[in-house]
Amino acid sequence: MPRLRTRFTELLGIEHPVVQGGMMWVGRAELAAAVSEAGGLGILTALTQPTPADLAREIERTRKLTEKPFGVNLTILPTITPPPYDEYRRAIVDSGVTIVETAGSSPEPHMEFFDRHGVRLIHKCTSIRHAVKAERLGVAAVSIDGFECAGHPGEDDIPGLVLIPAAAEALTIPFIASGGLCDGRGLAAALVLGADGVNMGTRFLCSTEAPIAGAVKRRIVEASELDTRLIFRELRNTARVARNSVSEEVVRILAAGGTFPDVQPLVAGGRGRRVFEDGDTEAGIWSVGLSQGLIHDVAPAGELVRRIVAEARDTIEGVTELFAGGPPRS
Ligand SMILES: Cc1cc2nc3c(=O)[nH]c(=O)nc-3n(C[C@H](O)[C@H](O)[C@H](O)COP(=O)(O)O)c2cc1C
Repeated sequence: MPRLRTRFTELLGIEHPVVQGGMMWVGRAELAAAVSEAGGLGILTALTQPTPADLAREIERTRKLTEKPFGVNLTILPTITPPPYDEYRRAIVDSGVTIVETAGSSPEPHMEFFDRHGVRLIHKCTSIRHAVKAERLGVAAVSIDGFECAGHPGEDDIPGLVLIPAAAEALTIPFIASGGLCDGRGLAAALVLGADGVNMGTRFLCSTEAPIAGAVKRRIVEASELDTRLIFRELRNTARVARNSVSEEVVRILAAGGTFPDVQPLVAGGRGRRVFEDGDTEAGIWSVGLSQGLIHDVAPAGELVRRIVAEARDTIEGVTELFAGGPPRS
């Protein structure tokens, strides 16, 4: 497989600009290592580990599985009892990791520390204004997550078809794109729209190495692009999750004027975790993106990276032939 070189691959010393984004409960050693080993960038999710010491051990485990670069995601969300972010940060740099994906809020409080330790920050955000701010703060790259994505798409509702070229116009540093991208057509489209690569969540959630029950992966394969729900719109903390009895109930309660305490028992993290551990897709809310409508198999993550890159090349060559007077595609 020839390398697909972009500014992003050169920045990080990887072979292909395909990133497996941080995923709570999912971003563990086997998955991240499989993506990195295939030449993409695998990412561990810091807060999936109960303590900073556990994160250090997970980083060590990943190193045993691959010698290639991988990153760690640090998601900084407002919570009542915040995790010890500075201790997680310290575990990351003490373990020698030099690529960090920040998400959730501004990377500013963490910039000086990571800079001092030679970490290249990829900041993930959902709006051009936050991307421009991150560039101004000095991050190495931006990851721009469109409305189609799993998890938190923000409140602007701008899909990738506009968000990606808008980011290309606004940024000078390398950036990758995500939200609804799950195959080579998505990678080809992102490159054509001006991105330096792609980030994928839902696609890698549905991979062999993702540490979740097979029933959840089968549900993703069976589901269509219609099978997600946006919850917490009224709270301005929108999340895209699987359509099931729990997310329908949350939407109903909030639309009827309910407040967070009314839905809190339904959205408890423990219930979502049960979905992934027990395979009961109705046990709680769980993040998944629109791209599930385009996902038709469960495959090893490394094979996915290779397939995505090969398919992107074929897609772009196929379109180029149209300009060369080739026959119209059937
Ligand atoms: C199950 C799941 C959990 C996720 N958890 C996180 C997280 O903890 N932090 C984060 O920054 N992004 C998280 N994401 C978002 C992904 O990293 C990625 O940005 C997103 O899935 C891209 O959109 P896509 O699903 O259309 O590929 C999660 C996504 C999924 C599917």
